[in-house]
Amino acid sequence: MRDDTAEVGHGTANVTDREGNVHSVAFTEGHSLMESIRDAGIPDILALCGGVNSCATCHVIVDEDWQDAVGPATGDESDLLETSSLVTPRSRLSCQVALTARLDGLSVTIAPED
Ligand code: FES
Repeated sequence: MRDDTAEVGHGTANVTDREGNVHSVAFTEGHSLMESIRDAGIPDILALCGGVNSCATCHVIVDEDWQDAVGPATGDESDLLETSSLVTPRSRLSCQVALTARLDGLSVTIAPED
């Protein structure tokens, strides 16, 4: 649920790591979800390609409640995700998710290691 008291341009994402721990990750509008997770020091996101949509080591699964707001993977992102044996209908590459204030409260789970 969106927190209407949140400062415009900022937000928080709830990120579940591979051990089931939930991290509250502050973000600034315009950054990618991958950058925000990485900057929060969560080690499960390797982001080996640095965010240029070519490694798939930033795979997350979007919470069902946020699927419509985030939208599906398309184009090259979708093609890359299809190479993963762990792809789901709610999979996204977090480097391709541009954060906006309307995604404040977003919940995602880091995908298992492929
Ligand atoms: S960081 Fe490489 S595809 Fe996202």
